[in-house]
Amino acid sequence: MTVAAEVDETSPQKILAPVLSAFWDQPGSWTLDTYRRHDGYAGLRKALAMAPDDVIAYVKDAGLRGRGGAGFPTGMKWQFIPQGDGKPHYLVVNADESEPGTCKDIPLLFANPHSLIEGIVIACHAIRSHHAFIYLRGEVVPVLRRLHEAVREAYAAGFLGKDILGSGLDLDVVVHAGAGAYICGEETALLDSLEGRRGQPRLRPPFPAVEGLYACPTVVNNVESIASVPALIHRGKDWFRSMGSEKSPGFTLYSLSGHVASPGQYEAPLGITLRQLLDMSGGMRPGHRLKFWTPGGSSTPMFTEEHLDVPLDYEGVGAAGSMLGTKALQCFDETTCVVRAVTRWTEFYAHESCGKCTPCREGTYWLVQLLRDIEAGKGRPGDLDKLNDIADNINGKSFCALGDGAASPIFSSLKYFREEYEQHLSGRGCPFDPARSTAWADNDAHLGVNA
Ligand SMILES: Cc1cc2nc3c(=O)[nH]c(=O)nc-3n(C[C@H](O)[C@H](O)[C@H](O)COP(=O)(O)O)c2cc1C
Ligand code: SF4
Repeated sequence: MTVAAEVDETSPQKILAPVLSAFWDQPGSWTLDTYRRHDGYAGLRKALAMAPDDVIAYVKDAGLRGRGGAGFPTGMKWQFIPQGDGKPHYLVVNADESEPGTCKDIPLLFANPHSLIEGIVIACHAIRSHHAFIYLRGEVVPVLRRLHEAVREAYAAGFLGKDILGSGLDLDVVVHAGAGAYICGEETALLDSLEGRRGQPRLRPPFPAVEGLYACPTVVNNVESIASVPALIHRGKDWFRSMGSEKSPGFTLYSLSGHVASPGQYEAPLGITLRQLLDMSGGMRPGHRLKFWTPGGSSTPMFTEEHLDVPLDYEGVGAAGSMLGTKALQCFDETTCVVRAVTRWTEFYAHESCGKCTPCREGTYWLVQLLRDIEAGKGRPGDLDKLNDIADNINGKSFCALGDGAASPIFSSLKYFREEYEQHLSGRGCPFDPARSTAWADNDAHLGVNA
C-alpha cells in the first residue's frame, strides 16, 4: 500500500526553483560536457532560428528584469540599441560583483560558466553584436581561470568564433579582469575602465545604448541577467512567467548570509519571503533572533523582523520602503550593534568613493568621522541630526548611485534604531561592546568626564 506523502509547505522542493544552480553539486558542473547533459546550448539553437528582433520581443514578453540591482527590463534595454547604424555594437557583461553581501555572480560563474556564455551568444545575436566582453572582478583568480577555460571550450565546440552553428553569426568573447574597485561595477565607470582609463562614472546622456564602449552602442548587463536567458528561451516564456508575479516574473538567486544557520545561494521564484527562506534553511543560528537585515545588499535600506513577510520582488520590497537590489539577504541577530554595522558599511563607501563629485567624496568622509565618534562614546548632542543632514546632502545630489547607496544605511538605521544611537550618546559608548566605549576608558582626555 502506498501512502501519499503530506505536502510540506516549507520543504525546499515546494518553494525553491533551481535553474541556474540545478546541477552545481555535480562533479565537473563547470564543464561543457556537464552543461550539455543538462540541455546546455539548446536555447541557443532555438534563438538562432529566430530573427534577432523576435528574440528581443520574446525576452521582453517574458518580463525578465535585470538582476544587477535596478531591475530594468532586459528586453527593453536590448531594444534601445539602434539598428542599421553601421557602427559596431557591444555586449558588456558586468561581473564586477562587489556590493557588501552580494555573492551570487561569482559562485554562478564558478559552478556554471557556460550558462553565461550561452546567454552571451543569444544576446549578441539579438542586438547584432560581434564582440562581447566579460568584466570580471580581478581578485577572483580561480573564477577567472574557469571562465577562460569555458570560453576556450565554447570556441572549440563551435559555440563561439566564426559562423556559430552554421547560423552566419560571428562572435568573439574577451574576458577582462578588473583591478578591484567597487565603482567599476557602475556601468559607465566600467566602460571607462575597460577602455583603459581610471574607472569613474560618465555623464549621461549619452547613455551606453547610444555611446557606450568606444563610443558605440553598448548593452551592459549583469551576469545573472544574461545567464537566465538560455533557460527562458529553451523552456519558454510561459514557463518563466509561471513563477513570480506579473511585474516580477521568473526565478532568481537569493544570497542568504550573516547570522543564519545555513548561509548560501537559494534559487527561488521572485516573491518568496525571508521567513520562508529561513524556515526552510534552518533559521537564524541557534538561540538567536533576527534583529535587522538587508533585502539587496548594504546600499538598500535595512529591514527588521517586522518585514519577514515582505514578498522579495521589485514591487513588494519597494512598497515596504526598500529595494530588491541584488537580493543579498544579510541577516544580523540581536548581538549586533547596528551603529557598528553601519559604521563598517560607511567606511566601505568612503573608501570606494571615486572622488569625482563633492557630496559623496566629502560626505562619506564626514559620516565616517561622526559614526566612529558615536560608536566610541565620543558623540555629542546633535550628532544624529548632523548624520541625517550629511546623508541628505549626499542622497540624490551625487553624480552616481554610490552616493545614494551610502546614505541608505544611515537613514534606515536612524529610522528603526534611533534609540540605539541615543544609547551610544547617553551611555558614552557601545552597549554591546564595552571595549569600544569611552565609559570604560579611564584615560580619555578628550572628554575628561569618564566615570
Ligand atoms: C556603485 C555601483 C556598483 C555597481 N556594481 C555592480 C556590479 O558589481 N554588478 C552589476 O551587475 N551591476 C552593478 N551596478 C549596476 C550597474 O550600473 C548596471 O545597472 C547593471 O550592470 C545593469 O545590469 P542589468 O540591467 O542586467 O541589471 C552597480 C551600480 C553602482 C552605482
Ligand atoms: S557619487 Fe561617489 S562614486 Fe559616484 S561619482 Fe560621485 S564621488 Fe564618485
